[in-house]
Formats: sequence, C-alpha cells, structure tokens
Amino acid sequence: MPAEVEAVQLAADDDLAGFRAAVRDLVARRVPPEAVHWQCAQQAGGLFDAATPASPQAPQTVPQALPAPPLRLPAAVVDLLQHAALHRDAGRFALLYRLVWRLLAEPGLRGDPLDADRLQAEGMARAVRRDMHKTKAFVRFRPLPDGSHAAWFEPAHHTLRATAPFFVRRFAQMRWAILTPERSVAWDGQALRCGPGANRADAPGPDAGERLWLTYYAHIFNPARPKPAMMRKEMPRRYWPNLPESALIAPLLHAAAERSGRMLEAGGADPQRRRPAASIALQLDRRPAPAAAGTLEALRLATEACRACPIGRHATQAVHGEGRPGAALMLVGEQPGDQEDLQGRPFVGPAGQVLQRALDALGWPRDALYLTNAVRHFKHELRGKRRLHKTPGQLEATACSQWLEQEIALVRPRAAIALGATAARALLGRPVAVTAVRGQWLRRADGLPVLVTLHPAALLRLDAPDPGALFAGWLDDLGRAAGVAWTDGGDGP
Ligand code: URA
Repeated sequence: MPAEVEAVQLAADDDLAGFRAAVRDLVARRVPPEAVHWQCAQQAGGLFDAATPASPQAPQTVPQALPAPPLRLPAAVVDLLQHAALHRDAGRFALLYRLVWRLLAEPGLRGDPLDADRLQAEGMARAVRRDMHKTKAFVRFRPLPDGSHAAWFEPAHHTLRATAPFFVRRFAQMRWAILTPERSVAWDGQALRCGPGANRADAPGPDAGERLWLTYYAHIFNPARPKPAMMRKEMPRRYWPNLPESALIAPLLHAAAERSGRMLEAGGADPQRRRPAASIALQLDRRPAPAAAGTLEALRLATEACRACPIGRHATQAVHGEGRPGAALMLVGEQPGDQEDLQGRPFVGPAGQVLQRALDALGWPRDALYLTNAVRHFKHELRGKRRLHKTPGQLEATACSQWLEQEIALVRPRAAIALGATAARALLGRPVAVTAVRGQWLRRADGLPVLVTLHPAALLRLDAPDPGALFAGWLDDLGRAAGVAWTDGGDGP
C-alpha cells in the first residue's frame, strides 16, 4: 500500500454506522477517494455473544468513535448508499466513497443518470433490496425442543442485520434465531443479539408442522396457473435448499398439465360470462315478486343487479352466501377471490381449501353452516392476464353491508364467525384489531355473538414461522364456536 494511502477499518462488512462516520470524517479532512483503502474486520466471538447486542430499531449498531461533522446529502442518495454498502462486492465502499466525493465536487452529477459510478451503485442497491425482500419471504423457522424457533438462511449479500428488525416486528412474541454462514441474529422477546456465522447443521430439521405446510402447499397449488418462469423469478433456485415446499415444485408442475386437462374436461365457469346489470334487472322484473320476496333466492338476484359501488362492473358475477336458512353458525369472509368469482360460490379457491381442512378437522360438515362474505364482488386489478386480489375498501364494504344484513335477517344464525378484519368490521360496525381479539366473542348491537379470528388466507402466508402451530391456533379459535353455536342441541353439526 503506498505511504500516502490511508486505511479505514470498518468493524464488520455490514457496518453502516462505521461507514457513515468514516465518510464524514474523510470528507471533512478532504481525503480524496484514491487515498483511502477500505477494509473490514473479521468476525469473532461465540454464537450470540452477549457483548454484541443490537436493538431492533438500530440493527447496525457498531460503535464508532469517529467525529461526525455535518455532511448533507439528499435522502435518495443516503438510501442508495445504505443499501449499496451491504452488497457483497469487496470494492463497494471505495465506489460509494468516490460517488459521495464526486457528488460534492460535481453538482451536475446529480442530474446525470448515466454516470458509470452511479449506475453501478444503483445496481448494487437494487440487488441488496431484492435480497432483503427474499430474506423476508423465504426464511422458514422450525421449532426447537425448548419452544423457540430457528431458521437457516443464505443471503446473497450482507443483509441479515438490516432485515432482522422486520422479523422482530413480525414475531415479537416468539424466541427465534436466524443462522447464516456469515452471522446470526437471535431474538429472546426483548433484545436482538448478533453472533458469528453458523453451519446448516446447527439449524433444526423438518418437523410435523412443516409436513402440514407441505400438505397445504400441494393442496393449494393451482394446476391451471403454473407459471414456471415467474415462480423461478420469485423463488430463485438458490433459495430452494432452505424451502421445504421446493421439493414439491417439480412433481406438482409435472402433474399440472394433466390436472388442468381434467379440470377443462369437467367444464368450468366461463370468465367472459359477465352478466350486465340491466339484463338481471329485467329478469327481476319478470319474477313474480310476492313469491320471491323475503327469500335468500330473491336476495341473490337483487345482489346480482347491485351497482352501488364500481367493482360489480368488473366481476364475473356476484357471489352470494351458501347454506341453509336457519343454519346455526354463519362464517363471514372478506370477498370472493378469483375462483369464487368464476364459479359463483364462496370459499372454493385456495383460502376455501384451507377452510375446508379446518372444517374437516373440527368435524363440521360444510352444508350445516352458512358461508358468506362481507363483499359480494371480486375486487381485483389486472396484471397482464392475471387478476390480482385487491382488499376491498370501506366504500365497497359499506355498499355491500345491506346484503350481509339482509342475509343475517333471513338465515337467523345463533352466532357468526368473522374471518379477518373486513368481515369483523362489517359484522360489528367498527374497525377491529383481529390479532388482539382473535378467539374472543364480541357482540353486535342486535345481540348476535361474533367470534373473531384470522382469515384462512392468513394461513397461506409464505413467511409463517410455524405453519402447523398457526393452523392449530386457528382451529382452537374456530373450535370455540362449537359450544356457543349449538348449546341448545339445535340443528348444527
Ligand atoms: N376469501 C374470502 O374471504 N371469501 C371467499 O369466498 C374466498 C376467499
């Protein structure tokens, strides 16, 4: 190293605080980029060394004694630096310091999107953001005998500590650790601690919960919509070794063509079969009103014609509730999904399949219940040919509340289960924090007891730490309805 070159040693390869402090110091002392040599200290210490705590709010807490004179950079540049500095490329700190130096010396650089340094830094920042996103999506926790959870993961960049606050927020009540070859983080319910890297063998193996998750994954796989290129883009092969469901992808894709062929032979709903409101209104006009009035069938036809909010125009059809008038228990979901919209029946798509598994586990025959939704039409947005679910807003929920209320009046259930926040709000007339009150009975103004719990789609989240425990907890919530709904030995299951 030439004598005039100054070495800057960072405490770790994700030492953002140290990098920031060093940049400020170097700029203040007018040290040009070519006179700086950047290095990172090697990691040391035992697993989850108590001497290296990191708070969830400030994951890059590497103490630095360097002075920090003011250095003002636009927020977008700071964001770029913070992400690109976590890239695996050994030359990143030199590149980023050069970029800062040039941004200060060449004001025109801010308006030059084609500058080579800037392009390279932006490419690095993009790769790091993608890696953080993949970490959030693909970390799979497995239970340990002491009740805590651990996951093995191999990030592409130095992103673990920057991503850890996400897991702290999401799994604040659990004790967990994420082990990677480079470093590890552990949350004990109060503090996040950092330690050195681990081996894959240090992480626990498959468990019963995972087998349940695999069963779900196989169950919800939609053979009519396999998109291998998209799947590989979203779930790149390098993450497969850590994902239990990856073992199912090849056989499921293989079987998809055959399964979807069978579905076509069986004949499905025609997605183009949109029914204009006017023709339905005509149909209504022709119906003998007295015979239809006050029945679920009349309600169904009236719902079809509803254009009280815009989503009805873009759906295939309204999806009415299903079940017997007089059913003791009414289950209320959010809105029909893609499959429900095509088939005109509630809970027949992936979320419906999860619900069906719960009903099977509880021994509740579906036809003894009344299944319906807070919103009657499928709210979605088009992404190419795909229709992506959009959560209904208050506008749609309010416009639809008349149908749910009429349905309750006609079915006269003894209790209702609100599956998720939209259903809870529609039933109770106020916003409800589902995770805070799940498993509890609340009461509507008209006296109807409402049990609040998760929506089945929440059980399909790819980042659930322990899908088996999640499902068991959900069954527990749902099971509380059995006694209340059928206390008088009525006609429930
Ligand atoms: N999700 C719902 O909330 N309802 C359905 O009918 C299907 C999916």
